[in-house]
Amino acid sequence: MTSIPTVRLPAGIAMPVYGLGTWRMGESARARADEVKALRHGLARGVTLIDTAEMYGDGEAESIVAEAVGTQRDGVFIVSKVLPSNASRRGTVAACERSLKRLKTDRIDLYLLHWRGSHPLADTVAAFEELRTAGKIRGWGVSNLDHDDMQELWRAPHGSGCQTDQVLYNLTRRGIEFDLLPWCRQRKMPVMAYSPIEQGRMLGHKALADVAGRHDATPAQVALAWLLRQGVIVIPKATVLSHVDENLRALDLTLTADDLATLDRAFPAPTAPQPLDML
Ligand SMILES: NC(=O)c1ccc[n+]([C@@H]2O[C@H](COP(=O)([O-])OP(=O)(O)OC[C@H]3O[C@@H](n4cnc5c(N)ncnc54)[C@H](OP(=O)(O)O)[C@@H]3O)[C@@H](O)[C@H]2O)c1
Repeated sequence: MTSIPTVRLPAGIAMPVYGLGTWRMGESARARADEVKALRHGLARGVTLIDTAEMYGDGEAESIVAEAVGTQRDGVFIVSKVLPSNASRRGTVAACERSLKRLKTDRIDLYLLHWRGSHPLADTVAAFEELRTAGKIRGWGVSNLDHDDMQELWRAPHGSGCQTDQVLYNLTRRGIEFDLLPWCRQRKMPVMAYSPIEQGRMLGHKALADVAGRHDATPAQVALAWLLRQGVIVIPKATVLSHVDENLRALDLTLTADDLATLDRAFPAPTAPQPLDML
C-alpha cells in the first residue's frame, strides 16, 4: 500500500495529492470490466482520490466509479464536474442529483464547473453553495478557468469559496506558471493538473529518459514527480494495470537540482503570459 500525502483545501478539507483519472472510461461496453478493474487496482494500492465528470462516457464513467468504489465510499475522495451547458442555477443542482445517482452516493467531495460556458459564473456559484449547504457536495471548484476568469470569479458573490482550478499542466504545458499558478498559490488554493503525462505523448522525450535513467525510473514517473514536488494534485488515467502501478511509484521519486535543471532546459518555463491550454 502506498501512503499518499494530502493537501489542505482553503476550506480546510484534506485532499489526496494523487488520484485516478477516468476520461475515456465508460465509452465502450467491452472495456468496462477492465476499467472497473483498473480503478479497483489503484484503490487496493492505496489511492483514495478519483476524478470523473458527467461528460465522461455520457455518465457511464460515474457508474464505473460507483462500481469500483463499492462499499469503500467513505475512504474515497470523489471529484466530479458539471457540464457548462448544465451550469445554470437550477441546471447545476439537477446535474449534481443525476451524478449522485450514478455515483451511488449521497455526496460528492469536490464538484467542479468543467469549463466556462454561457451561464453566468455567479449562477453556477449560487447553485454550488446551495448544494454545499444541503450536504450534497463538500466543496466546489472550477476547471479550465484562466487567470482573468479566476479574477472575475473572485468578484462574484461567494466566488472566493472556490477550492481548486483543474487545468492542463505538465512539463510540455507550463504556461500557468507565469500567472495562474502564483495567483492560486497566493490564495492557498491547490491546482489539479489534468493530462499530467500529456496522454502519453511526452513520454518519448529524451530529457525525460535521461532523468529517468539516473533514478532507475520511467519517463512517466519523472513527469508525475515533477508536478508532485510543486504541491500540485495529479490525476493520471490508466487502464493498463502495470501503468497504474508504474505511475503510483512516482510518489517515491525525488528529483535532484540537476534533474530539475535538465528538465528546465528541455521544457523552459514561460517568460510571458500565455492563454491557458485546454484539451
Ligand atoms: N478538466 C478537464 O477538462 C480535463 C481534461 C482532460 C483530463 N481530465 C482528467 O484528468 C485525467 C488525466 O488526464 P488524461 O486522461 O487526459 O491524460 P493522462 O493521464 O496524461 O494520460 C492517459 C493516457 O496515458 C496512458 N498511460 C497512463 N500511464 C502510462 C504509463 N505509465 N506509460 C504509458 N502510458 C500511460 C493511458 O493509457 P491506458 O489507459 O491504456 O493505461 C492513457 O492513454 C483524465 O482521465 C480526467 O479525469 C480533465
